[in-house]
Amino acid sequence: MKPFFILSFLYLAFGAVLSSSQKYESIFNFGDSLSDTGNFLLSGALAFPVIGKLPYGETFFQHATGRCSDGRLVVDFIAEAFGLPYLPPYLSIADGKDFRHGVNFAVAGATALDSQFFYERKIEKLLWTNDSLSVQLGWFKKLKPSLCTSKQDCDNYFKKSLFLVGEIGGNDYNYAFFLGGSIKQLKAAVPLVVGAITRAASALIEEGAVELLVPGNLPIGCSAVYMTLFGSPNKADYDPTNGCLKAFNGFSKYHNNQLKLGLQALREKYPHARIIYADYYGAAKRFFHAPRHYGFFSGTLTACCGGGGPYNFNYSARCGHYGSEACKDPSSHVNWDGIHLTEAAYRHIANGLISGPFSTPPLITSS
Ligand SMILES: *[C@@H]1O[C@H](CO)[C@@H](O)[C@H](O)[C@H]1NC(C)=O
Ligand SMILES: *[C@@H]1O[C@H](CO)[C@@H](O)[C@H](O)[C@H]1NC(C)=O
Repeated sequence: MKPFFILSFLYLAFGAVLSSSQKYESIFNFGDSLSDTGNFLLSGALAFPVIGKLPYGETFFQHATGRCSDGRLVVDFIAEAFGLPYLPPYLSIADGKDFRHGVNFAVAGATALDSQFFYERKIEKLLWTNDSLSVQLGWFKKLKPSLCTSKQDCDNYFKKSLFLVGEIGGNDYNYAFFLGGSIKQLKAAVPLVVGAITRAASALIEEGAVELLVPGNLPIGCSAVYMTLFGSPNKADYDPTNGCLKAFNGFSKYHNNQLKLGLQALREKYPHARIIYADYYGAAKRFFHAPRHYGFFSGTLTACCGGGGPYNFNYSARCGHYGSEACKDPSSHVNWDGIHLTEAAYRHIANGLISGPFSTPPLITSS
């Protein structure tokens, strides 16, 4: 019984990778710092110049690439799983990069809502970039004629493409929370943010996309920056099972539930499309419940790279700035710089989507 089980398991795992490498020929990604592979850096990175130097990138690339992590991101692991090259950032277009296997439009700091929304409400102070989701969609439309020509040609090409729409929206909330917005106020903005995401997904389907993966938000109540800024003297504000801030995780779940409803409506409108929800929340929450199982021996709630404080997030000495230091082994931490996660954490999230239960319907269809 046992050897047979192992063999069939291996066969299934191997089979999944094989059929999947045949399945997608390109990936198009939209989002923020969780998936930016260089656009923000190429656009000047004025709000965050340290992204252009070590220790960012130290783990895998061994130099800074513009990724907000020590190494690879979820999108990199997805590309690997499908046997595709790492996605070049769209803004490298001037270098004549080959985009036939896909391209990455994500920009660190990007919001789901247009920057105008923040300017009109005078909450633009922390905005890193104006390259919101609709700007990224505009780049896609501009690029499209170089990828395919007739409708038939485009439909055939995009049929074999995976469109990753997010994670996006996390910054819309971050900017407002960091400026003192309350959970109640922010809940009122959730339908707007979710609307921007589902509108972008619709627009892509209208352009020919049929396979879309739309991630939800991470458990922000477990993030070092939220733990530091919104720490509470009241023990009851913390989840006893993981030490995270309950109300902020509740907010992430609120957003995710609205997003799931929005995606359900899209599935009804476009029955020919496969619209996959990626449960980043569930995939990451595991780390805080059973850290050792994932190799997170030294830190689940403290950042690897930072300048002191209870969660190693110090606004005056953020990762990469004077007074900060990176830990020796980033793979022993969930959190990289207080805001973003380590390559190790992103790898486990990606595996949770590719071969685990965190994509609905499953990303890999076993045939
Ligand atoms: C974003 O746009 C506003 C005006 O619409 C401009 O003042 C600001 O400099 C822009 N920000 C960036 C980072 O480009
Ligand atoms: C935060 O960083 C500043 C500047 O390096 C430093 O003076 C301060 O002691 C640090 N705070 C903590 C809690 O380590």
